[in-house]
Amino acid sequence: MRSDFIRTYSPRMEALARAQAQTRVSAAIRQPEVDSADPLAAFRVKKEPYYRPVADEVELYEAAYSVRMPMMLKGPTGCGKTRFVEYMAWRLGKPLITVACNEDMTASDLVGRFLLDVQGTRWQDGPLAMAARYGAICYLDEVVEARQDTTVVIHPLTDARRVLPLEKKGELIEAHPDFQLVISYNPGYQSLMKDLKQSTKQRFGALDFSYPSHEVEAEIVAHESGVDLETASKLVHIGERARNLKGHGLDEGLSTRMLIYAGSLIAKGIAPRAACRMALVRPITDDPDMRDALDSAVTTYF
Ligand SMILES: Nc1ncnc2c1ncn2[C@@H]1O[C@H](COP(=O)(O)OP(=O)(O)O)[C@@H](O)[C@H]1O
Ligand SMILES: [Mg+2]
Repeated sequence: MRSDFIRTYSPRMEALARAQAQTRVSAAIRQPEVDSADPLAAFRVKKEPYYRPVADEVELYEAAYSVRMPMMLKGPTGCGKTRFVEYMAWRLGKPLITVACNEDMTASDLVGRFLLDVQGTRWQDGPLAMAARYGAICYLDEVVEARQDTTVVIHPLTDARRVLPLEKKGELIEAHPDFQLVISYNPGYQSLMKDLKQSTKQRFGALDFSYPSHEVEAEIVAHESGVDLETASKLVHIGERARNLKGHGLDEGLSTRMLIYAGSLIAKGIAPRAACRMALVRPITDDPDMRDALDSAVTTYF
């Protein structure tokens, strides 16, 4: 039997539905108003992010930005790609719009859509349209997570045309001179289904990111977690041991981010072994032998 035939009146459900409708309307009215003087005000990086250069990536990126070359940051998770873009946006004095891509993302999520509100329909730029229109760096994090049709919308923006067609609206945005597109990409995860097309790849310059050298990584871990350099160096040793197991039972090496988590727990007074178990070993593997191997790496240093 269809449920609407047996629909019974419930004052509580009615009140809930009314309240929900009300919040929907007020949410539509309270859409963030774009400040017309500086539409990208919310995306300016106000404070210098801590970034420890690993090689010559800062100079290379600056050169790439100076010719507005679209950039692809390649490397495993947690090795500093996002932090690097934030730092470069700050250094270049450009606003940064970051989009964390996921498999439910559609082209409209990037480009924009018509919204219904009390005054009728109105267009709302998506993050990519906003960046192109007003001149920001647009960072598409983990771009292969998005559906393939999504990546196609970036094509006309990443060649000599530098335009973004808003098909639904019938508008062609010519990218602002400051606009640049940056994507991140983890070559380790990619299945054939999820790899970027050559036609997409060949529109970008690429910088390889990997784990920094021992000294540099220890410095980063100490800075970010608050442990002393000696403890940070031990954590990095454990990380390096685990990275050697990649391909021998571990899918991905221990990231700098994980080492920072472990360090932060130690800095809070947690015993180093417990901190490492929780922040380093348990998250990356369920395999009992692998856990033993990693636990013994921990006990070697702590
Ligand atoms: N070169 C670096 N300089 C400063 N911090 C770094 C660096 N590399 C990694 N980090 C630290 O590691 C964390 C994870 O890096 P993140 O940029 O989020 O990684 P990714 O985007 O590559 O997954 C950052 O929050 C930052 O604390
Ligand atoms: Mg990231």
